[in-house]
Amino acid sequence: MIHKQLKPFPKDFLWGASTSAYQVEGASLTHGKGPSCQDVKELPEGTSGLDVCADHYHRYKEDIALMAEMGFKVYRFSISWSRLLPEGTGRVNQEGIDFYNNLIDECLKYDIIPLVTMFHFDMPAALDARGSWSNPDSVQWFVDFAKLMFESYGDRVKYWLTINEQNMLTLVGPVIGTLFIPEGCTNEIKEIYQQNHHMLVAQAKAMVLCHEMVEGGKIGPAPNISLVYAASCKPEDVIASQNLNAIRNWLYLDMSVYGVYNNIVWSYLEEHDATPEFAPGDAEALKNGHPDFIGFNYYNTATCEAFPIDDETVQSSAADQQTQRGEKGFYKGYRNPNLVTTEFGWEIDPVGFRATMREIYSRYRLPLIVTENGLGAYDKLTEDGKIHDNYRIEYLRQHIMQVQEAISDGVEMMGYCPWSAIDLVSTHEGIVKRYGFIYVDRDEFDLKTLNRYRKDSFFWYKKVIETNGQDLTD
Ligand code: BG6
Repeated sequence: MIHKQLKPFPKDFLWGASTSAYQVEGASLTHGKGPSCQDVKELPEGTSGLDVCADHYHRYKEDIALMAEMGFKVYRFSISWSRLLPEGTGRVNQEGIDFYNNLIDECLKYDIIPLVTMFHFDMPAALDARGSWSNPDSVQWFVDFAKLMFESYGDRVKYWLTINEQNMLTLVGPVIGTLFIPEGCTNEIKEIYQQNHHMLVAQAKAMVLCHEMVEGGKIGPAPNISLVYAASCKPEDVIASQNLNAIRNWLYLDMSVYGVYNNIVWSYLEEHDATPEFAPGDAEALKNGHPDFIGFNYYNTATCEAFPIDDETVQSSAADQQTQRGEKGFYKGYRNPNLVTTEFGWEIDPVGFRATMREIYSRYRLPLIVTENGLGAYDKLTEDGKIHDNYRIEYLRQHIMQVQEAISDGVEMMGYCPWSAIDLVSTHEGIVKRYGFIYVDRDEFDLKTLNRYRKDSFFWYKKVIETNGQDLTD
């Protein structure tokens, strides 16, 4: 639909940006924090460890002041489980509790709403040693962790996100350093979807708990949603795109919103002898959880075609969150020739962003908040302390324009939190893959000054927020 007149952004639209604890904080094994799976994983070649990151742990005051200068209404960050509970359960690290208390208070000082992700790719290593999400007790571990967060911060934090990109944990765990497969496992798909099931039940219980414990609390999921296109109008390609849509997207949202397994996913799991075991009470628990909104991360769309059983093509095993992969008889990743890519090979599709928002809203009818969207690039600090990231401005402009298109389509949009507020360590491509509005003066292995610099996108986004999205010009 080409609108004659676009509707404005709502008056209380939540402009802000996002980070995650293990990627931004540093202090990964100090101040009482226990290791997470990220701290003990084998680092991708050529990428730095997580002991410093952007040093947000020590510099959060300066960082929040810069976010306030941009006019942020909201700051999305995550709480590190092993900072609060070094062994994942039991003993509480008071220093960790205090750190997030201070961070939250600092946001509130500037009227920035804290939007807290409860779990972002960082399972405590001590819980991995006890079987991670494959242990049925993991549901209770997460519920206890949720209780501690709601008790400690629920008086001030009213917006919560459950599990960041549970779909990526399930689909590309090895790339983001989160895959846990117990010894002796004979059916990896069954194992992974059993873990996924435990996360789904844990999430549903956390939603119920949030409503019980946090006065006025609102909570939602935060999967990575990429609408999947069919490579052609061949009916078999359409079926393949529905397959990937189901396993990548709708499984997670059907579960969060309706508490039921998507039927295409369930039959896929049956085919692989991989349907999850339900513990007594699981079905009911899944039905009881109700999100107040849907948070979702969007980087681009996906495209796929049919993958006949006798097709000998080998699909790349190096796929990450946004690159192609496939499975014989189900779908085959396809490079969309209509889209350009970033320096890191991720397709760029702003119009697909609108299509994704329309699709999510028409399926679930809940308000949406974009919890990630952004461009990773090799930024350069000039001698006079500038960062001319016009490519990022262009990317964000194109995407924000599509948010307004979606609003004009009748989609209820609550806010926009691109990735990332400040430069931080990428999941597997190091800190030189930068996303932030705020530049951090460090390289992959040379920590330099860690000073903060305002990128050109910083000034641009400030104006976007000031005008509530009306002025997107340079
Ligand atoms: C999302 C994650 O998948 O994408 C973030 O939620 C991540 O943690 C972001 O950093 C960008 O991906 P990457 O791989 O470039 O860091």
